[in-house]
Amino acid sequence: MRGTGSPAPDPLNPDRDTALTIDGPALAQGLQYGDTSGLHGLLEWIYGLQEDQHGRKRGEGWRVSVGAGSQDLIFKVETKAAAVAALVNPGDPVLVESPVYAGVIPMFQSLDCEQIEVETDAHGICSSSLRSILENWPSGKLKPKVLYSVPYGCNPTGMTATLERRKEVLALSREHNFLILEDDPYFYLYYGDAPRPPSYFKLELEEPEAGRVLRFDSLSKILSAGIRIGFASGPAPLLDAIDRHTSTSNLQTSTLTQVIIHTLLKSWGYEGFITHTRNVAAFYRHKRDVFETALEKHLSGLAEWSSPQAGMFFWFKLLLNEQDGAGDSESIIRTKALERGVLALPGTAFLPNGRKTAYVRAAFSLTGEEEVNEAIRRLREVILEDRVAKLSTV
Ligand SMILES: Cc1ncc(COP(=O)(O)O)c(C=O)c1O
Repeated sequence: MRGTGSPAPDPLNPDRDTALTIDGPALAQGLQYGDTSGLHGLLEWIYGLQEDQHGRKRGEGWRVSVGAGSQDLIFKVETKAAAVAALVNPGDPVLVESPVYAGVIPMFQSLDCEQIEVETDAHGICSSSLRSILENWPSGKLKPKVLYSVPYGCNPTGMTATLERRKEVLALSREHNFLILEDDPYFYLYYGDAPRPPSYFKLELEEPEAGRVLRFDSLSKILSAGIRIGFASGPAPLLDAIDRHTSTSNLQTSTLTQVIIHTLLKSWGYEGFITHTRNVAAFYRHKRDVFETALEKHLSGLAEWSSPQAGMFFWFKLLLNEQDGAGDSESIIRTKALERGVLALPGTAFLPNGRKTAYVRAAFSLTGEEEVNEAIRRLREVILEDRVAKLSTV
């Protein structure tokens, strides 16, 4: 099998493509069933990466499994197989940062979980709110066993949690005995000026005892979403539960895809991989700047936002009502903006209880400069028309 159809970019020289060949034993292996937790060579590469990036050494009670994207692994740990490992049982309360990645809301709903929303701001989970929820927990009621968070370039809010907030959340996880589900597909898309904060997975090494963090990585945002490769790293019993689920559902992640990815990553090495991710992050930083310039030009005084330091999302609040800035972005975004060809998501899609919010999520991953400018100009028109319409009904 020759990769000459779409050669891989050379990370050390992004203008050059490299053709990789997969044949002989590697191809034969790729065409067969493989181990449930993943291809041996790829797992080895991932262990090396986790040591390099998060300081986690093998043989310390944790392990790795590969999945068909991180979504596959999150689903498997949250749903019934995880019940075997006593992680989340049907009906349990779970802590979710709020607003939360819309992809996990139906997972918890399918287990009839009570989703307890924990407030976030531009610095991450508001640990004081989390503390207050936990300290005022009704006596006799089962306490939450997990907290779900996207700590870098959060989908939808774009926030990156600060070191201080991460430490406070970790301390609370120890005090109140819950596990942190660290869903981190935007970890490698950090482009902030300040030094990057460590992951929860790394930070927990400073705790008296590690084993409270289950981390999800994804290659979707840095290599390709279509290859469907993600990996989970964390306490061995939970990874065993994920594997049990895999072995009864899809048996394993495609071996051929894993062989292709492993061949590419091996050829890059860790240095080449990190160089590649830095190039991707720089690409998104530029997109962020273009988007923010358009926001400043067209929506100053009509919206409020914080500038993301990672990832591909802007989360902004429409000031629909001049008096108090309150309101609901849903009708504007789903009807009036959409009718004019502007695609964004109303903030309510990211709130498990579906309450109204004036916030909007816009992704800046695919659009070019002119399109962004035009889209936000049109959004400005829609907001102004909405304001006039409201005034005329007063
Ligand atoms: C926060 C978050 N988690 C998980 C996923 C799914 O990632 P994957 O493609 O690895 O399944 C996404 C995709 O957008 C995401 O934003």
